[in-house]
Amino acid sequence: MTIFSSDVFTGKHALVTGATGGIGYETAKALAQMGADVTITGRREEVLNELKEEIQDDFPEAKVFIVVADLTNASDRETLVQEAEDKMGPVSLLVNSAGITGGGVMEDLTQEELEKVMHVNFTVPILLTQQIYESMKKNKEGAIVNVSSLSGLRGTYGGTAYTGSKFALNAFTQSFGLEAIEHNIRVNAVCPGYVDTKMGRDGIRRKGERENRSFEEQLKIENANLPSGRISTAREVANTITFLLTDAAENVVGEAVKISGGSVMGL
Ligand SMILES: NC(=O)c1ccc[n+]([C@@H]2O[C@H](COP(=O)([O-])OP(=O)(O)OC[C@H]3O[C@@H](n4cnc5c(N)ncnc54)[C@H](OP(=O)(O)O)[C@@H]3O)[C@@H](O)[C@H]2O)c1
Repeated sequence: MTIFSSDVFTGKHALVTGATGGIGYETAKALAQMGADVTITGRREEVLNELKEEIQDDFPEAKVFIVVADLTNASDRETLVQEAEDKMGPVSLLVNSAGITGGGVMEDLTQEELEKVMHVNFTVPILLTQQIYESMKKNKEGAIVNVSSLSGLRGTYGGTAYTGSKFALNAFTQSFGLEAIEHNIRVNAVCPGYVDTKMGRDGIRRKGERENRSFEEQLKIENANLPSGRISTAREVANTITFLLTDAAENVVGEAVKISGGSVMGL
């Protein structure tokens, strides 16, 4: 099976959250390239329009549907799923990529910030998945990838809120994965280290500031600390997500797949 061929997802409807962000954007493109009809969502309409245009320039046959939604808003989530399924049919592929950083060290962490990070990164993917689960169950078909983080596998400095939310997302992936597999629905997570997106670059910049280093200096250090010699690209994360959504990953269930240039081995 050629997993990246243009007909792998023919007739399937994929919903990608965080499609205006680096990882979601590349994932939506990859899914469309592989034949899926794609619903893309985020809060920035102009970026969703750009993405739609880019996909349709590259793959004129691709069906792309835009829904602008703030996923922290219950009625936006409801409208998103309803409009997406009315327009493109039942969702059988779901990528929960929307996420935020935030929090900081304990001295600075507020309850409001902690709850915001947990809400967007943990509660929202669960509530959205719940809405789509019914039709996946009915059709006895589905694959879901939650975009977690390497920070969901080990603690990070100042990461109480973010790291906690990603550990929790991995716990959701496993627990729900156990329930869903009996309905032929596979749930997995990806756990990237630093990725070259706005979020990744901001994280490196903040880390550099703590040590009085420029972004460029800190990036050089991050790259040098990785066995592969570099942080990941959004397309590399998208490729792993799309692989997990294909039948080539048929017996991959409840996993947390790392994409981090071998960072877990250190140097
Ligand atoms: N980049 C990294 O280094 C890295 C590493 C590990 C894990 N991750 C995870 O990967 C995922 C994607 O990150 P990224 O690098 O692509 O980040 P990004 O470029 O900052 O994108 C974040 C995305 O989340 C969306 N989002 C945030 N809050 C939202 C809300 N309330 N409602 C709807 N959408 C919302 C944003 O939409 P709008 O901008 O349109 O509001 C945007 O599309 C995140 O879950 C992140 O935690 C990233």
